Amino acid sequence: MHSKLLRFYPDPCKKVFLKGLYLNHQLHELGTAACPFVYANFLSSLDGRIALEDTAHQGTYIPKHITTASDFGLFMELHAQADCLITHGGYMRALGEGRLGNILQVRNKDLVEWRRNHGLQPQPAVIIASASLNFPLHDSLKEHGQDVYIATGRNAAPDSIRYWQDLGYPLLFTGEDNMVHGAPLIDALSGLGYQSIYLIAGPQMLDTVIRDKQLSRLYLTMTHQLIGGKDFRTLLTGSMLGPEGNLILEALYYEQDSPPGSGQFFMQFGVERFTDTDI
Ligand SMILES: NC(=O)c1ccc[n+]([C@@H]2O[C@H](COP(=O)([O-])OP(=O)(O)OC[C@H]3O[C@@H](n4cnc5c(N)ncnc54)[C@H](OP(=O)(O)O)[C@@H]3O)[C@@H](O)[C@H]2O)c1
Repeated sequence: MHSKLLRFYPDPCKKVFLKGLYLNHQLHELGTAACPFVYANFLSSLDGRIALEDTAHQGTYIPKHITTASDFGLFMELHAQADCLITHGGYMRALGEGRLGNILQVRNKDLVEWRRNHGLQPQPAVIIASASLNFPLHDSLKEHGQDVYIATGRNAAPDSIRYWQDLGYPLLFTGEDNMVHGAPLIDALSGLGYQSIYLIAGPQMLDTVIRDKQLSRLYLTMTHQLIGGKDFRTLLTGSMLGPEGNLILEALYYEQDSPPGSGQFFMQFGVERFTDTDI
């Protein structure tokens, strides 16, 4: 994290430190309870893949060679500024089975202290979006005293709804079918007072939030690698988008030597509601 990046936009060709790059954005101050700041971060290959399908095991995975410490460090800087994370049932199942690592807490000491100094709770609240309502909770949520909400649709299975209610977990009904919809979800989180909301879910939830014009900023790391693969995931899942898919470049940085033998762009896009004047 002591390495430097080349800034291409705005004010091109300045060298800037990687460490602190996203922490300086002060995202926790960009939203209000009435209008929370909702942001997401993805890592994509040059050929637009964010994950590959593992057809033998009927799962998906992010190829290790496209991941870097610098990208993960920036991911965690974004995490540190959130008062609320949105994840989903699929991640909770993967975490429970040990298929994915735990990203539900801020662990780095400097970032924990940063939260304390900036008036944020020690750890963010966690929203689990799920249509199936079939997932385990992870012990770390209780250990860190995090508020947990389960977001689902009104038509989710009544037995599953009762199961979570009996355990005392609040449910947010934020869709008329069994799915969560973007606008009612963010509206419910705004009602709970959350102001900086970090979407750490995948393409289906990004689609849910963008389609309802609820995303304030997209961070996108583009590794300069073509990874191929016949079956893959890309940023979105749903049908064609209209103008809600138009984003505005706010910043572009270049890291020359990572991943080794290649490089990557760190990009930041806003939508009309929030542009670079808010940075
Ligand atoms: N490269 C990257 O930056 C990046 C980022 C994120 C993810 N990924 C990868 O991409 C692949 C797919 O991601 P993902 O599994 O996180 O994807 P996802 O498609 O966003 O989420 C899938 C799960 O989320 C729940 N869900 C999603 N939208 C919902 C809605 N509107 N209402 C209710 N529930 C909803 C469902 O849970 P239930 O089944 O419980 O109903 C569903 O199974 C994974 O391999 C992941 O590791 C890559």
